[in-house]
Amino acid sequence: MDRTKFVLLILSFQTFWQLLQTLEQAALRFIVLADWGGVPVPPYYTPHEEAVAAEVDRLARTEGLDFVLSLGDHFYFNGIKSVDDPRFKYTFERVFSQPSVLDIPWYLIAGNHDHRGNITAQIAYSDMSHRWNYPSLYYDLLFTVPHTNVSVSILMIDTVVLCGNTYDQTQPSGPDNRRAADHQWEWIKSKLASSRSDYVVVAGHYPVWSMGHHGPTSCLVNRLRPLLKKYRVSVYLCGHDHNLQFIREDDGSSYVVSGSGAVSDPATSHRESIPLSWQLYSSPVNHTAGGVVYFQVTEHHMTVGFMQTDGKCVYQAELPTRRV
Ligand SMILES: *[C@@H]1O[C@H](CO)[C@@H](O)[C@H](O)[C@H]1NC(C)=O
Ligand SMILES: *[C@@H]1O[C@H](CO)[C@@H](O)[C@H](O)[C@H]1NC(C)=O
Ligand SMILES: *[C@@H]1O[C@H](CO)[C@@H](O)[C@H](O)[C@H]1NC(C)=O
Repeated sequence: MDRTKFVLLILSFQTFWQLLQTLEQAALRFIVLADWGGVPVPPYYTPHEEAVAAEVDRLARTEGLDFVLSLGDHFYFNGIKSVDDPRFKYTFERVFSQPSVLDIPWYLIAGNHDHRGNITAQIAYSDMSHRWNYPSLYYDLLFTVPHTNVSVSILMIDTVVLCGNTYDQTQPSGPDNRRAADHQWEWIKSKLASSRSDYVVVAGHYPVWSMGHHGPTSCLVNRLRPLLKKYRVSVYLCGHDHNLQFIREDDGSSYVVSGSGAVSDPATSHRESIPLSWQLYSSPVNHTAGGVVYFQVTEHHMTVGFMQTDGKCVYQAELPTRRV
């Protein structure tokens, strides 16, 4: 009798069942979502945003969901005015309103459209809502995969502070406040240099690489990309272009775009701005619909799935641990 059979035999059915459940729960699961900020006129949300919310609900019920990373552009087109702004109700609370998602924490950072309004008020809303967690312009999160010692660090960065805002132009043209930008660059460097986590994720609003309407952000290609490589970051997450993308450079550095929260944009304007061999999947080129990006981290793997709003996983990839 081989060892596996022997082990199975000596476990009573009940302990075996408990073990299975423990193994099943031994994962950290989260969603990455951006650019879901509705429209500035009634009803203040889009049909696509509703469909995305329904998919978040389905994932929460069927797969499990520990938290949501929300990477900016929460309120189109000019952010919000105050902490009492009704857009919190119409664009956020009433859309992501299914019972299964009401207790799931959201961790947020701002996008260019948020920065056109009152960011202090978006931060202050954290005191009004038990699921809206936006402690400061940039911050870090640390999680452990349940029943393991596997750690996941997430740096939530404000790329609008780092690179500047955009209005009519497609590229940000430099920070409004260079001192604030430099201060954050130093913070990013020191956090990455000191992290001992098994997986390190950096998340911001603007892309490093993107094949969509806005394309790559030169400020981040020049200054952030070298840091991602130097400190062996597992993946960079962003929104801004309204599609889903997975880009992997030849050295393995990986980039996820998840910006189809309110609309799904078919533009491929910057397809030629990145080596084609790095563009492993994108919703416009591969003719799939936009939706959400779903992460699952277990003791040995971090996987990312690109989900359509009909629940179909259209692309899946595995991300490396830091080879510490
Ligand atoms: C921004 O929002 C905060 C919190 O609601 C409020 O105290 C502040 O007056 C607002 N700023 C402006 C310029 O409206
Ligand atoms: C986690 O690490 C501690 C201390 O090194 C060790 O005692 C424990 O068994 C580890 N747990 C798991 C699930 O690996
Ligand atoms: C997406 O389309 C590109 C270009 O046709 C192709 O090279 C790539 O393999 C496709 N990816 C997937 C995941 O289907």
